[in-house]
Amino acid sequence: MAKPIHVLSGPNLNLLGVREPEIYGRETLADIQARCEARAKGLGCSIVFRQSNHEGELIDWVQQARTEASALVINPAGYGHTSVALLDALKTLDIPIVECHLSNPAARETFRRKTYVSLAATGIVSGFGGASYELAVEAAAGLIGATGASA
Ligand code: DQA
Repeated sequence: MAKPIHVLSGPNLNLLGVREPEIYGRETLADIQARCEARAKGLGCSIVFRQSNHEGELIDWVQQARTEASALVINPAGYGHTSVALLDALKTLDIPIVECHLSNPAARETFRRKTYVSLAATGIVSGFGGASYELAVEAAAGLIGATGASA
């Protein structure tokens, strides 16, 4: 059985749907999880989907992905702009890393234009709302060679 793609979400993303909906949309994280699970299934792979408001917990999960995941999708949220420790953890991975954002941080405040995570990411998907996650899962699946469900 192939290892799952791990999908991690950082702080405040548990409030999707009510948090600045004009920026992040009205979909909840549970809605996005369901979209990702359906997309992964269609691609013949599985996902582990988790969210934390705590930097250390995210780092623990990144470390876990070293041995338990085939690829990592991560929306680091605010920690992307601040956390060298998260970057350091990501740099220990030998699997593809897809950074994902609902909004397009490059088109927002100056402090959002830099993300430390990008220094470790294989690629970035941003600006498509909840679809960013789905596209990121699809990109991760492509990078590990999963392109369709087996019969
Ligand atoms: C975000 C963008 C970040 O700048 C912000 O801190 C978030 C969400 C996004 O998905 O668009 O919390 O990562």
